[in-house]
Amino acid sequence: MEEKNKPVGVFDSGVGGISVLRELVRVMPNEDFIYFGDSVNAPYGTKSVSEIRELTIRNVEKLLEMGAKSIVVACNTATSAAVAVLRKMYPELPLVGIEPAIKPAVLHKPDSRVVVMATPMTIKQEKFQRLMDMYKDKAEIVPLPCPGLMEFVEKGNFDGEDLYKYLTELFWSVNDKPIDSIVLGCTHYPFEKNAIKKIVGDDVAIFDGGEGTAREMKRRLSASGLLGESHNKGTVTFINSRDTKEIIDFCKHLLNQPY
Ligand code: DGL
Repeated sequence: MEEKNKPVGVFDSGVGGISVLRELVRVMPNEDFIYFGDSVNAPYGTKSVSEIRELTIRNVEKLLEMGAKSIVVACNTATSAAVAVLRKMYPELPLVGIEPAIKPAVLHKPDSRVVVMATPMTIKQEKFQRLMDMYKDKAEIVPLPCPGLMEFVEKGNFDGEDLYKYLTELFWSVNDKPIDSIVLGCTHYPFEKNAIKKIVGDDVAIFDGGEGTAREMKRRLSASGLLGESHNKGTVTFINSRDTKEIIDFCKHLLNQPY
């Protein structure tokens, strides 16, 4: 098969990266995609950097073995812990990671207060600290580690009482002053957008990095002459380390679920 007609590989620690996959499909409807979710090893966000690197490299190798022409790291945690290593290992490969969409949130309103929700690992990384430093003169940026939130998504809990209790308590620590916007710095969180809105109110603007990441992948494919040539609608193939019919059905459901 010609290189440009091969699929784009996408992975995450679980089902969260499907929020990025949705944008990829929207931006490049004629491409084929393979999505790998490592639900058996989720969450990544509370693991050590070396464990995350090892799992991330394994995921990339798997997708390349399956014929991926490019890779989207649809996980903020894996991007912050491992993208530099991956770039060194695969200098020729079009590889795009995702990072918290702080820039559009800061530009949205001058001198605003921006809460960045992410995994404890993403927030601890130097990459995140550097990103915050870039915007610290333009806005008050408040990191909010959310250990346990991705598990609600993995379990398909989008509206449960326990979810609302978790979110209410989570926001106590940042509710001392009004919040102008929220950045969803973990690819699982867009699936909880409606629940988050119920806690913070409709006036708070919510941003995620899915669309920006999808557009960046399109640019990279185009620059390297690897955009597919098909005029037909592309396909999406789901694989998951859990390897059950339930998880694959859940992935298909999430791809189309509105939020
Ligand atoms: N979806 C991942 C991210 O974007 C994190 C979830 C996890 O902790 O594994 O950071």
